[in-house]
Amino acid sequence: MVYFSPTGNTRHVTHAVADRCAQLGSNITLWDITSPAQRRENVDPAAFDAFVFGFPVHSLRAPRLVRQWLRTWQGDKKRCAMFFTYGGFSVHPAHYSTGRILEQQGFSVVASAQFPSAHTYNLGGWEALAHRPDSEDLQAARRYADAVYPRLLGTDTALPSAFEQGDYTTKQLDHFEDFRYRIVTQLPTRSGGECCLCRQCEKVCPAGVFAAEPGEVIGSGCLACLACVAVCPDQVLHINDTRATWQKKLRMGQTSASALNRQKAVFYL
Ligand SMILES: Cc1cc2nc3c(=O)[nH]c(=O)nc-3n(C[C@H](O)[C@H](O)[C@H](O)COP(=O)(O)O)c2cc1C
Ligand code: SF4
Ligand code: SF4
Repeated sequence: MVYFSPTGNTRHVTHAVADRCAQLGSNITLWDITSPAQRRENVDPAAFDAFVFGFPVHSLRAPRLVRQWLRTWQGDKKRCAMFFTYGGFSVHPAHYSTGRILEQQGFSVVASAQFPSAHTYNLGGWEALAHRPDSEDLQAARRYADAVYPRLLGTDTALPSAFEQGDYTTKQLDHFEDFRYRIVTQLPTRSGGECCLCRQCEKVCPAGVFAAEPGEVIGSGCLACLACVAVCPDQVLHINDTRATWQKKLRMGQTSASALNRQKAVFYL
C-alpha cells in the first residue's frame, strides 16, 4: 500500500484498509511516500501482486508531486485500488485524473473511494470536518478493504464504471493548483520566534523546502500542505488567519459546516 499523507488523515485511512486486508490474509507492505527520501526509495513493482494507493485531494486532484511521481512507475498490468481523503469540497476530478495516470502507467484500476477528513486549512481557522476521519469513517475504510480485496486478488473481475472527468479542463485544474495561495497568503513561518530547533518541520516537508533554522520556506515548491505547522512540538509555526476565506468558501460551495459534516465515505466499485 502506497500513501502520501502530510498531516496524517490519509495515513489513518491507509492503516484501517491495511489492517483489514491483513486480517483477510494478505501480506501487506506499507510505503509512505510523503518525504522526498521515501519517494526516492527503489521499490520493484514486480515484487508485489497488487497495489492500493491512498492520497489526499489537493486542489481537486492528487497533489502535483504525487502525480509526477506516479508517472515514474510501471504498473505491468498489476491490479490496483485507489482512495482519497478530502476536506469536504470538490473531490471528483481526483478519481478521474489519478485513474488515468495509473492506467497510462499500465495499472488496471479496480476501485476507488473517498473519505471525508479534516481540512488542512483548519490549521489556519477553517472548520471543515474537524475530528474526521472518525470511527465511522475508519469502519467504512474496513468495508472498502472487504470490497476491494477479491478484486485485487482477481477472484472478483468486476470493474468500476468510468470515472467522470467533471466540468474542468486540465488547464483549469492546473490553474486551481495556484488558488491555494489566495487562501494561504502567508506560507508557514516562525516569524523570528524561538524554538527548540528539533528540525521536525524540515524532516516532514514533502517538498524539501522548509528550513528549520530561519523557520521559513526557502525557494518555490511549497505545497501549502501544512505538515510543518502540524508537526511543530513548540507550536510556533503559523500561516495567515484563514477564517475570512472559510465563510467565503462555504458561500461559494453553497454549503454549511454542518452539511459538510454529514458527508460519508463513497465507494466506486
Ligand atoms: C493545498 C491543499 C489543497 C486542498 N484542496 C482540497 C480540495 O480541492 N477539496 C477538498 O475537499 N479538500 C482539499 N484539501 C484538504 C485535504 O484534501 C484533506 O485535508 C486531506 O485529508 C489531507 O490529507 P493528509 O492529512 O493525509 O495530508 C486540500 C488541502 C491542501 C493542503
Ligand atoms: S518543528 Fe517547530 S520546534 Fe522543531 S525546529 Fe521546526 S519550528 Fe522549531
Ligand atoms: S514548507 Fe510547505 S510543503 Fe513543506 S511542509 Fe510546510 S507547508 Fe508543506
